[in-house]
Amino acid sequence: MNLIAVVGAGTMGNGIAHVFAQKGYKVNLIDTQHTALEKALQTIQKNLDRQISKGSIDEANKISTLNNISIFESIELGVVNADLVIEAATENSEIKKKIFSLIDQYAPSNCILASNTSSISITQLGAVTKRPEKVIGMHFMNPVPVMKLVEIINGDQTSLVVTETIVKLTEAINKIPCVVKDFPGFIANRILMPMINEAIIALSEGVSDANTIDQIMKLGMAHPMGPLQLADYIGLDVCKNILDIMKEGFDNTKYAPAPLLVEMVAEGKLGIKTGVGFYKY
Ligand SMILES: NC(=O)c1ccc[n+]([C@@H]2O[C@H](COP(=O)([O-])OP(=O)(O)OC[C@H]3O[C@@H](n4cnc5c(N)ncnc54)[C@H](O)[C@@H]3O)[C@@H](O)[C@H]2O)c1
Repeated sequence: MNLIAVVGAGTMGNGIAHVFAQKGYKVNLIDTQHTALEKALQTIQKNLDRQISKGSIDEANKISTLNNISIFESIELGVVNADLVIEAATENSEIKKKIFSLIDQYAPSNCILASNTSSISITQLGAVTKRPEKVIGMHFMNPVPVMKLVEIINGDQTSLVVTETIVKLTEAINKIPCVVKDFPGFIANRILMPMINEAIIALSEGVSDANTIDQIMKLGMAHPMGPLQLADYIGLDVCKNILDIMKEGFDNTKYAPAPLLVEMVAEGKLGIKTGVGFYKY
């Protein structure tokens, strides 16, 4: 693995680019929105400065990390020489299928295609390509430079050698791989999202205020962050999309996003990224 292309330069894409570039890989960061690329580079720079102030890296590491990242506004140009493409675009099945089909056309035939999807079927993403055996889920956690877990998802046709390669690569960037099967929401979000959704329902029923709900889960369950604060951090639009995908995937209304969540997303209250969610930022 030398060159890694990351498609989507939002919350997750910039973190994934940061981590690989810091480990010495060349990274092509791709987004259709120029502003997203600019913002991603600013975020990476800010996060590297934070690492310097904590003493975990030096100035030379910051410079080499930034030098390893190139930005592209088109998939066609950004993936041509890639050994691995990690897609981290918007959590929407149709968008991701279009992206996978495009990557498949332009990436080298031996290139592995991974998705950072939180919940969309890896098998279905693989099915739009001519290389389903080389398609795999690589679900990083937010914030990527800090969180150790990478949930690795095998599609129905993912080959053993591809899984082994991605497990080794995950270890090479000092993360811990956990391999799971391709079910809606996999493991992480299948368990996390119903909890967040229930916290939102309790809030809308007036059982308690946001701060108290979060305190109860932090103090009582030893969670480092309460569910409402975590939802703001993830992005309320991302939470809603994941719940919609699980509801459809399991054909079960127990995963239906809480009406308050739907309302907040419609109002553009998406959490930290828009400055307002369950809290103000
Ligand atoms: N936010 C989280 O905490 C979190 C955690 C784990 C996984 N994920 C997953 O990571 C993925 C990205 O989520 P995010 O929170 O970074 O989203 P985001 O909205 O912050 O960023 C998505 C980016 O994708 C870009 N994009 C959309 N269509 C594109 C295309 N055709 N080509 C190139 N770029 C395109 C957008 O311009 C945007 O910059 C999703 O699949 C999400 O489920 C998110």
